[in-house]
Amino acid sequence: MTRLLTVTAAILASVFLYSTSAAAQDKVTIGTGLISSQKCILCHSIGERGNKKGPLDGIAKKLKPEEIRQWLTNPEEMRAKAKATRTPAMKDPKLTPEQLDALVTYLETLK
Ligand code: HEC
Repeated sequence: MTRLLTVTAAILASVFLYSTSAAAQDKVTIGTGLISSQKCILCHSIGERGNKKGPLDGIAKKLKPEEIRQWLTNPEEMRAKAKATRTPAMKDPKLTPEQLDALVTYLETLK
């Protein structure tokens, strides 16, 4: 009986781990697409793609997830806080909660 429980728990745990990492992977894929579709690359670059004046490579080393989220929801305030002067200034991209989540998850992978 204990053995059966252990086996069941192990199976459930691996199914859970698989589905959460698959979900995170989906968000990364969606986030990667949003960088183009939301026109982030007009002002930012990632690797060889986009505007080199605003590289986002390594952004996860510089900013906490909450700070990235704030840039994507309240860029005016972050601009003041960061004393950023580059123009054109970033505007609120008005993302849906799902898009915001996917972009933050993706940007968090840029270490
Ligand atoms: C009109 C130009 C423009 C667009 C479009 C834009 N940004 Fe920005 N963004 C800026 C500027 C300017 C800053 C201030 C920092 C700087 O000077 O690079 C900034 C800052 C940021 C920062 C903080 C960077 C840092 O080094 O601290 C992040 C993260 C960011 N933007 C992500 C995005 C994402 C994701 C998108 C697309 C949804 C986007 N931006 C769209 C102009 C833009």
